Amino acid sequence: MCAEQVDYGTFEAALERSRRLEEDLQKNPGKYKILTGDRPTGRLHVGHYFGSLQNRVRLHKLGVPTFIIIADYQVLTDRDTFEEISENVRQLTIDYLAAGIDPTDGKTFIFPHSHVPELNQLLLPFLTLVTNAELDRNPTVKEEIVASGQKTINAGMYTYPVHQAADILFCKGNVVPVGKDQLPHLELTRTIARRFNHRFAKDNPVFPEPQPLLSEAPIILGLDGDQKMSKSRNNTIMLSADEDETAKLIRRAKTDSERFITYDPDNRPEVANLLMLIALCTGRKPEDVAGDIGNGGGGQLKAMLTESLNDYLREHRTKRKELEKDPGYIRQVLKDGVAAAREEAISTLEEVREVMNMQL
Ligand code: TRP
Repeated sequence: MCAEQVDYGTFEAALERSRRLEEDLQKNPGKYKILTGDRPTGRLHVGHYFGSLQNRVRLHKLGVPTFIIIADYQVLTDRDTFEEISENVRQLTIDYLAAGIDPTDGKTFIFPHSHVPELNQLLLPFLTLVTNAELDRNPTVKEEIVASGQKTINAGMYTYPVHQAADILFCKGNVVPVGKDQLPHLELTRTIARRFNHRFAKDNPVFPEPQPLLSEAPIILGLDGDQKMSKSRNNTIMLSADEDETAKLIRRAKTDSERFITYDPDNRPEVANLLMLIALCTGRKPEDVAGDIGNGGGGQLKAMLTESLNDYLREHRTKRKELEKDPGYIRQVLKDGVAAAREEAISTLEEVREVMNMQL
């Protein structure tokens, strides 16, 4: 193994690289292959929409081939439940499609990794390229162990980042749109690619070193205003909510006691978050939205948000309902995704066996 350690790096450096990558993607979309993924833990909410989904749709529309992994095995790392996995896979797929991901373009694939055996097999050689100490140091895993509240931690929790490297490298993805929490996993993936090439394929590298593309979308707080929007915190608006539910949730959203509305994220985070959501839905600046409301107070702010968000999500919600009625189509999208992913995985595994001297 190379002596060089996994470098978990600084956020600023990653952001700078990511900006350069974004520029190049616009100019040369043909050079890239995007690989992105989610855990199927439930339906998507407004925070997901503005945080990652919208960005994926934008990249997809640049025409870059896109593999979207539904990481069903990863769900088992920090919870005991598995009963809802297949329903969650379905719901996630519906949200991707409703948001504008179009797998009929022939270069966009959605699939659960549990159905791609050759991808999973890459885990075995990859595990031999990292040390226990490196896996122990992964800051995202450490946080997840605390957040899970579990007394015993299964080995999948420590090793899933290596499996995630297989998720990314099986198709030789070279761009991975992610949030900050995924940077350690990307760094590990790059390390595994580098070590693999160095050890087994010096003259003819098998794997690219994939680059993270950081979303610069603001983090959406939950309706309680003091934490990130997240299902486990019960502070979300689901994309699948109807217009009345949306109105009701927003009516209960936390604001503050000051009537005059201003955009001041440091001192008035709850109000700023609602203003930011209006801004994202309407393409305006949050400061300008605040200026328009002014003395209208919290009531007007909430009324405006309800209307903007319901308008903004109307198309998504209508498509969602249509797709719900057609489970056969959703299954077909996933089956097509699995077939395309397997083709890539089989060919990569073949190459891997060959350079490792394991051919028959
Ligand atoms: N770990 C990611 C998350 O929790 C999900 C994921 C699995 C992923 N495989 C991936 C993300 C591959 C990007 C690329 O959100």
